[in-house]
Amino acid sequence: MKIITTTEELQKLRKEIDGSVGFVPTMGALHNGHLSLIRQARDENEHLIVSIFVNPTQFLEGEDLDAYPRKEEADIRICELAKVDILFMPSISSMYEKDELCIGAPAIRGYILEGQKRAGHFDGMLQIVMKLLNISSATRAYFGKKDAQQLSLISQMVKNYFMSVSIVPCEIIRDESGLALSSRNIYLNSDEKGRALSLSRSLKEATKMIMSGEKSVVNIKENMHFHLKDIDSVEYVCIVDREFNIRDEIEIGDSIILVAGKVGGVRLIDNIWI
Ligand code: PAF
Repeated sequence: MKIITTTEELQKLRKEIDGSVGFVPTMGALHNGHLSLIRQARDENEHLIVSIFVNPTQFLEGEDLDAYPRKEEADIRICELAKVDILFMPSISSMYEKDELCIGAPAIRGYILEGQKRAGHFDGMLQIVMKLLNISSATRAYFGKKDAQQLSLISQMVKNYFMSVSIVPCEIIRDESGLALSSRNIYLNSDEKGRALSLSRSLKEATKMIMSGEKSVVNIKENMHFHLKDIDSVEYVCIVDREFNIRDEIEIGDSIILVAGKVGGVRLIDNIWI
C-alpha cells in the first residue's frame, strides 16, 4: 500500500493507473461501517484508493473538529489489511488555498434537516468531496446510506456538474444491539448507549407500521416520537423521498425515514430506506 500525502503525487500516480478505480473518502477513525465500504469497493474495482482527511470546512464553529477522533496508526493498519492500494492522507494546506472558489449546497434540499441544524456543513462537505473526486478520478465512489442527505447531495452534485464518477450507496452497518456505527459512538457511556438505541428502535417500529399497511407520515411520526422518549433532545423525525423532498405519504421504494437527536451531548443520526 502506498501512502500519499500531497495532491500532486496522487494525481501523478493516478495517471499511471489503468482500469477501474474505487474510491472511499473518510475522515478516519475507521470502524466496521467504513470497512464494509472499503470491502465493497475492493470487490468491485481493479484499484482502490481510500482517503483520510478530517475536513475543517465541514465543521461549524463550536463543533468537535479538534476533538474529532484521530487514529492514524490503526487506520493505516486497517487499510493495509483491507488491501487498499493507495491511502491518501493530505495535509490541510495541500487541500486548500486562501480565498477559494466555493460550491454551495442547493437552496432547499441542502438547507433542511442536517442542513438546517448544521448550516454551512454541506457547503464544506461538497467542496471537499468535489476536490477528492477530481483528484482521485475514480470510476466509482462509495458513500454510506447512514449519511443519507450527504449521499443525496453528492449524487446531485455529480449530476449537476456532469461528473463521470458513479456514486455507490452502501448499506448502514449496525452493531449487535442495532446502533448504527459512527465514529462518534465512542463518546457514549453505557447508559447513553442504551438510550441511543431508541433511534433504531423507533425506525423499526415505523417499518412495522408500514409493513402492516400504514401510509400516513403523521401517524408514523407520532408513533416514533413515543419510542424516542429516552433521547435527551429529538432534533427531527422526518420522511423524505430519495431526492429529499418531504413526504406526507409513504411510497414503498421511494421513502427514507430519518431521525436525529442528542444523547448525553452526543449528536446521533439514523435512518431507514423504505
Ligand atoms: O462522511 C464523511 O466521512 C465525510 O463527510 C466525507 C464524505 C469523507 C467528506 O469529508
